[in-house]
Amino acid sequence: MIDMIFKKLIFILLTLTLFFSNTSFASNTINGQKIYQQHCVMCHGVNGKSVMAGAANFNRGEGLFQSDHRLLERIQSGKNACPAYRGILTEQKIYDVIAYIRTLNW
Ligand code: HEC
Repeated sequence: MIDMIFKKLIFILLTLTLFFSNTSFASNTINGQKIYQQHCVMCHGVNGKSVMAGAANFNRGEGLFQSDHRLLERIQSGKNACPAYRGILTEQKIYDVIAYIRTLNW
């Protein structure tokens, strides 16, 4: 009996761990959209149609042909007129924004 309860407890604990680790580590496009609207939209435009001359047009997939890891480093260190976001946005937030901008090219 005790054994059964113990097994059930372990099962519940594992399920909860999986659930919470999933929600805290996976990229979140909804959150990414909010960050995009606060920090990127003035140059890269609504839906990724850039409004600043020379800014990557995410609507056409510009600048997105690289891994998430490369993009993270790029966004952290900036490129010419694109500001550096190291110290401004956490890694998790940048991954969220990357997940969001990847939804814009169609
Ligand atoms: C002040 C205007 C401005 C803002 C704000 C801005 N960008 Fe940019 N971004 C640019 C410009 C200009 C380029 C083109 C840089 C170049 O290739 O010379 C660019 C390029 C990029 C690229 C392509 C990089 C590459 O490897 O070619 C990415 C990705 C990007 N921006 C992401 C972002 C994200 C994410 C944000 C918000 C967190 C952001 N940018 C905010 C102006 C801006």
